[in-house]
Amino acid sequence: MPRSDLARVSPPPQLVPSRGHSSSGGQIRLNRLPHGARFPRLVYNGGVTEQASRRAIHAAQPIEWRLSGVVVLDQRLLPEREVRNTYTDYQHVARAIRQMEIRGAPAIGVAAAMGAAIGVLHSPARTLDELRAEFEIICAALAETRPTAVDLFWAISRMRRVFVEACEAAAARGAQAAILEEVRTAMVREAQLVHREKREHDEAMGRHGAALLPRSGRVMTQCNAGALATAGIGTALGVIRMAVYEGHELEVFVPETRPYLQGARLTAWELQQAGIPLKLITDNMVGHCLKTADIGAIVVGADRIAANGDTANKIGTYQMAVLAREHGVAFYVAAPISTLDLTIPSGDSIPIEERPAEEVTHVRGMRIAPDVPVSHAAFDVTPSRLITAIITERGIARAPFQESLAKLCGK
Ligand code: MRU
Repeated sequence: MPRSDLARVSPPPQLVPSRGHSSSGGQIRLNRLPHGARFPRLVYNGGVTEQASRRAIHAAQPIEWRLSGVVVLDQRLLPEREVRNTYTDYQHVARAIRQMEIRGAPAIGVAAAMGAAIGVLHSPARTLDELRAEFEIICAALAETRPTAVDLFWAISRMRRVFVEACEAAAARGAQAAILEEVRTAMVREAQLVHREKREHDEAMGRHGAALLPRSGRVMTQCNAGALATAGIGTALGVIRMAVYEGHELEVFVPETRPYLQGARLTAWELQQAGIPLKLITDNMVGHCLKTADIGAIVVGADRIAANGDTANKIGTYQMAVLAREHGVAFYVAAPISTLDLTIPSGDSIPIEERPAEEVTHVRGMRIAPDVPVSHAAFDVTPSRLITAIITERGIARAPFQESLAKLCGK
């Protein structure tokens, strides 16, 4: 297959556009479903049904595989501007991950899968050995981007497995050029599959989790665990969206999430676009709101979950969980199975990313603090004893998490 045709392989699933299709691209709108009504299957992959075109979930698309390359919505510029950059070089995809142009654990995984595929697709290698050598460099560059989100490493090892299998299968037949094209095709297909699966898993997670949220009232989240963070409908926000879809009357309390402001810039934007009521609060209001605002539940995402259920998520999540326990508020984590790291026994082994000091001392290029030493841990670990339940696409895990998570993973 000519290389220009490879991008055409099994076109990436497009969310069904609503009639009011907006510039965010690939968006589908969610209308409220009467209480007790059944959830209609969302339609992906262009199979528009009457039902799906009327009832759909409004979800911005942070990344897409296109004929022209990997198209990334630059989240650093949101909500003011919606700018999409097209990358044909894996090093640029790696840079986009590192600089948080695309962020959120599952979306980082999708980006890594597409980065590996675009790297192989555009590799100048002329022999399988050359391609193998370059693939190692591609994987290393992607792996060095962000240390905490295990979806990154999950996606790289999945792409590696497919690469090895494709190389072995192709080597058994054909001439050198045909072999390379077979491997390239396999990589592009797998990256698209990773993306499609993320969307399906978000939906399943949403359905499992929606029932845990109050029928009406207030919920709280942290950071952005929405469509922008997953390339689906979101993990925590997917659960909230699905609950609203099923008729729950919810208002979402959204902490700003300093210093990158994922809450203020991204979650507030997503919820507003979806028509879900919200209140933006400052990070230091979390305790006050849990004490006075009658918050019915908290639902957050995760970057890595250890075998015992300890969960790394955006900095600030741990103190939110402690406060939730103090005020008797249920604390839920929503994450795909790919975010589980059963190779580590507890959260003590989770590497915590330290981000540049400038992200704390400056806001949008403007200095707000003197030139002083800065500590900027991007994540913290919430001990599993503070977690009410972990919502995955395969079902809900409760304590003891060691057993329930292993069971969900078929161990
Ligand atoms: O640093 P970020 O923006 O990549 O951190 C994102 C988070 O911490 C999210 O809560 C987490 O990745 C879950 S994403 C569904």
